[in-house]
Amino acid sequence: MKSLKIFIIVIVVILIGIQLIPSALPKNNPDLSKDISKTQDVTDDVKIILHKACYDCHSNQTVYPWYSKVAPSSWLVAKDTREGREELNFSDWSDLSKRKKVKYFKEIAELVEEREMPMKIYTVIHRDAALSDEEIKTLTDWTKAQSNLLLSDN
Ligand code: HEC
Repeated sequence: MKSLKIFIIVIVVILIGIQLIPSALPKNNPDLSKDISKTQDVTDDVKIILHKACYDCHSNQTVYPWYSKVAPSSWLVAKDTREGREELNFSDWSDLSKRKKVKYFKEIAELVEEREMPMKIYTVIHRDAALSDEEIKTLTDWTKAQSNLLLSDN
């Protein structure tokens, strides 16, 4: 019993101690002027999918849940959000060249069809971000149409 008590005390002290290590969650930015919805025709159903399944990591409008403020989960959220935004940021979409936009549309369709995005670890907690076959088709039909529009427009 005594050693169990000591063990629990040690764990609690460690959990409190790691709260002092900063997680550096990427900052949000309310500026929507370069958002993908400003330059692409984002339909309502696509908007819902992007916002619930992608925007937490691929935009400047991350919704940070309580556990993103508590170590060690805060470190993981900070890392995924930072890396996700670096790879693709829907809030900076209009900065991209046409070639880049077409490339991203292709990658989005591929990764979503292969169920590599949204990340597995994310959908475990955010159940509604686990996309149905129908939602995947809605999204990939849309990326293909948007890409064709860009390519046909000189
Ligand atoms: C939990 C955070 C998270 C969510 C949610 C998420 N992503 Fe990602 N995404 C990442 C990270 C981190 C990377 C970079 C590392 C990697 O490829 O695994 C990435 C990479 C990508 C890339 C590759 C970009 C490149 O240039 O190679 C695409 C495209 C992408 N994500 C699309 C999406 C789409 C579309 C959704 C929603 C359906 C989504 N992601 C949801 C974190 C996330």
